[in-house]
Amino acid sequence: MAAHSCAAGGPRQAKPGRVPPRFAIPRGEAHVWLGEPAVGDPSSAELSSAELSQPERDRMNRFHFAHDRLLYLAAHSLLRRALSPCALDVAPSEWVIGTTPHGRPAMAAPWDDLHFNLSHTHGLVACVVVRDADCGIDVEALAGGDIALISRHVLAQAELVAVRAAPPPARRDLFCRFWTLKEAYVKARGHGFALPLDRCVFTVDGRAVTMVEHPDQVDQDGWQFMQYLPTPRHVLALALHAAAPVTVTVHTGWPVTAAGRRPPAPRPGCASAPGAAHRDR
Ligand SMILES: CC(C)(COP(=O)(O)OP(=O)(O)OC[C@H]1O[C@@H](n2cnc3c(N)ncnc32)[C@H](O)[C@@H]1OP(=O)(O)O)[C@@H](O)C(=O)NCCC(=O)NCCS
Repeated sequence: MAAHSCAAGGPRQAKPGRVPPRFAIPRGEAHVWLGEPAVGDPSSAELSSAELSQPERDRMNRFHFAHDRLLYLAAHSLLRRALSPCALDVAPSEWVIGTTPHGRPAMAAPWDDLHFNLSHTHGLVACVVVRDADCGIDVEALAGGDIALISRHVLAQAELVAVRAAPPPARRDLFCRFWTLKEAYVKARGHGFALPLDRCVFTVDGRAVTMVEHPDQVDQDGWQFMQYLPTPRHVLALALHAAAPVTVTVHTGWPVTAAGRRPPAPRPGCASAPGAAHRDR
């Protein structure tokens, strides 16, 4: 498992004298949060850019279209709100997030054993928070794109064969399953697309996911994958790399925390948040 150090110039340093947080998320638990932002939706309208850092606000404001600004706001707000119930004493806007030398967003010291990742696609944002595990999450919309073209570039031969053998209506879904699993794995490794996607090879059978080939000799053990359809229009893949099995809880909806206020006192498993939650292993 990689210990993330943050690139010089990326993160701001924690305030002097700040003590590490009292964690409310136990080791061995991962929490996935999902949100469906929509322009004009009242719950999306409650999201506030005051919870973002100034660089995040600047980035958000550079998007030309309102729906892109909302997607960015929703993803980063979701993440900051999801982090806060996991550590006492830290409000959403206070999290100090930097980047690793490979460009992966990571928690800056002194909170560097709290790991996270986020993903956004049309109509859905998702994030995962976990202690002491590398994690990657990817969501994609099932519609759109020329899968025949892109399949040849990103799928391994065995995956291509499986996609081509599937009944035509199921081909796109299977392609999206492979694609999101590869992205989640690559994001958990944190190296971006420097890893060759066609050498990250998966088999899927219902909910069962197996990584049958790794792109290199590094960290081949301890991987855990989860995949499902969070909405009828999206597929989600989660990759976790930990020394021991991790229990995953999925929460749907925005973690409640009014701008400037602390989130509600967390209960074990962060289950104090509203919306549906279910556990998976
Ligand atoms: C990270 C990456 C896989 C994202 O894939 P994506 O499906 O386009 O986008 P997603 O919505 O799923 O994820 C985006 C989020 O991943 C996170 N992310 C960015 N770089 C990351 C990395 N190296 N590892 C893990 N997560 C990363 C960020 O939080 C980003 O959201 P933000 O830009 O709003 O902060 C991809 O952009 C990437 O690898 N970038 C690195 C640069 C690179 O290798 N480029 C290849 C050029 S050929």
